[in-house]
Amino acid sequence: MNLAIIGTGYVGLTTGTCFAEVGHNVICVDNDREKVEKLKNGYMPIYEPELEDMILSNVSAGKLSFTTDLAVAVHECEIIFIAVPTPPHADGSVDLSYIEAVSHEIADALRPEHGYRIIVDKSTVPVSTGSKVSEVIRRYAACDVKVDVVSNPEFLREGSAVKDLMNPDRIVIGANSQRAMDLMKRVYQPFSAPIVEVDLSSAELIKHAANSFLALKISYINAVAAVCEKAGADVELVAQGIGMDKRISRHFLNAGLGYGGSCFPKDVKGFINIADQLGAPMYLLKEVEQINARQIERFLDRIREKMWVLRNKRIAVWGIAFKQNTDDVRESVAVKLIRRLAEEGAIVTAYDPKAAETGARALEGVSVTICSDMYECVRDAEVLVVATEWRQFATANLVKVRELMHLPIIFDGRNILHGENAVHAGFEYHSVGRKSLYPER
Ligand code: UDX
Repeated sequence: MNLAIIGTGYVGLTTGTCFAEVGHNVICVDNDREKVEKLKNGYMPIYEPELEDMILSNVSAGKLSFTTDLAVAVHECEIIFIAVPTPPHADGSVDLSYIEAVSHEIADALRPEHGYRIIVDKSTVPVSTGSKVSEVIRRYAACDVKVDVVSNPEFLREGSAVKDLMNPDRIVIGANSQRAMDLMKRVYQPFSAPIVEVDLSSAELIKHAANSFLALKISYINAVAAVCEKAGADVELVAQGIGMDKRISRHFLNAGLGYGGSCFPKDVKGFINIADQLGAPMYLLKEVEQINARQIERFLDRIREKMWVLRNKRIAVWGIAFKQNTDDVRESVAVKLIRRLAEEGAIVTAYDPKAAETGARALEGVSVTICSDMYECVRDAEVLVVATEWRQFATANLVKVRELMHLPIIFDGRNILHGENAVHAGFEYHSVGRKSLYPER
């Protein structure tokens, strides 16, 4: 099938590539000329495992192409996916101006000779956005073309986007027309995942409700972690114990510095906002946000408690990305932490395997030295803070780290180091929701 994807961000680019991989002909559209030129020449705008090879092989097989010309894509493809950003406004409501602009452009490009079109919303949007898109199409289309609007939310995680897209738990399709539903099911036929067929509004709500529930799980375990710290219990054991109940599951019960990234903070805010507007306030999610914000403060308090004044203390931070396997630093808790430490006058060094460049941009104006080697980063440091859950931090040579550091103190904000190993290497080890460990004297 011929598919157009408007927007080549994390969602658009990975979705388009995976569609090409399973045999569709895909045109990816973006209005950023530089990005499109880069992609045409085989340069990746983002780091995402497995993506580069898949893009290169599908481009050379003629199944995937890139253009800035939205009209051509609309003329050639019966199904047009919108995957443009939906950033938050200052009040938490969702900025739908990119969706509106693209809908308007699609309406302008519609021609009767090309026939029926389906516009699929892949971006995370508030419920009822689909009907607004339909209205825009009706208002601006210069001709009478039958168009259906569908919601098909994406659940991929950055860092495992290709894997998630190729093996989804479920595919949600929200359509108010059987013709659109049948065609969408053909798009997804090559994927062996159950399809949840629902109406447009329910599909839109599923995305906000799913992401908010996952954020809620994280905040729940972080609130439990705070209790564990006071009670001398171990949050990892508590998570294991409650997670073995299939109704709860162990997934997304990792205590730490809290959630970040381009989705959870924005989607929880967006859901709160739309629920408020609908007159059904989600107070529960307001608490989820507050717990998340408190997590970094609690962690900073514990570092201060140990180190007293942070001014001129040499603090090494491992991790800048908002999570492992990505170079994305949007709403990264690690970035917030580095900023806060620098503001308090600490001498901060930071290292991230993939997010050095994006991190340097996000931290412009902040006094921090970004290192290209994780061991160099800790040289002469008094404290090592682990802020992102990269696997290479968990397997680091802690004896070497101890030799390089000035003082033997680790604060693990992601609970990924092996505490006993840290202690054997001579460190005192502080983590989230667990007792601190000290070497025998
Ligand atoms: C999320 C959703 O998982 C995905 O389905 C949706 O499509 C987009 O939003 P993503 O933002 O890529 O994906 O990352 P995810 O792996 O969900 O992690 C989000 C944040 O939560 C990260 O900052 C991560 O460190 C944190 N997290 C995750 C925890 O603190 N604890 C956990 O147990 C899981």
